[in-house]
Amino acid sequence: MSERNKELAARKAAEYDVAGMVVGLGTGSTADFAIRALGERVESEGLEVQCVPTSKSSADLGEKVGLDIQNLEDHPVVDLTIDGADEVAPNLDLIKGLGGALLREKIVAAASTREVIIVDPSKVVDRLGTRSPLPVEVVPFAWGLAQLRLMDICRRAELRRRDDGETFVTDNGNFILDCHFSDGMPDPAATERTINGIPGVVENGLFIGLTDIVVVGEDDGQCRVLERQGK
Ligand code: 5RP
Repeated sequence: MSERNKELAARKAAEYDVAGMVVGLGTGSTADFAIRALGERVESEGLEVQCVPTSKSSADLGEKVGLDIQNLEDHPVVDLTIDGADEVAPNLDLIKGLGGALLREKIVAAASTREVIIVDPSKVVDRLGTRSPLPVEVVPFAWGLAQLRLMDICRRAELRRRDDGETFVTDNGNFILDCHFSDGMPDPAATERTINGIPGVVENGLFIGLTDIVVVGEDDGQCRVLERQGK
């Protein structure tokens, strides 16, 4: 899907009223568009915004575009977070973490009063686990055991590697196992709980009940805005 769709969704989300707020900065190519758009707004409108990044790369980009980068320790309540996703289900539950930042992203999402997700249309699915693997962050000591246990739940649990063949290491010093499902997940909430009960698992990329709004950048240049029902 084109960068144009991503930028469209990102620019729409960056238009939200953020004056005086603490804003969570997501991670990934779509979130990067939002960070840049926010930087432009802060500069042109002179907005007072404090930002909590979900990764080192988002912190670096935020700083580069002139955002005030803070930490979660000082701002444990985040007013609004803008982040990307790998899959969006009809009830707005998500798979995240192909960019490797799922742990901090999930913590910041849980700390956020409003979680806004920006995607291109290819990320919208009928069932989670059909398009993207599910990333699971594990402590390095336990990855072999975690992989064995995950194989009871999914078809294949693959240790993530970098392009140069070295093991991918997260900002938190952990490894990631990418779990492939044959036909998606029938009950993602149950899968989330089961996986987090495996010894050595730190967190998984299922975001259940955390999303408030999804902005989809469509091919016709419009944005489709989906809101969680019952909030
Ligand atoms: C990083 C993430 C990203 O938000 C997700 O992978 C989407 O990335 P992109 O916008 O580059 O497609 O969860 O951990």
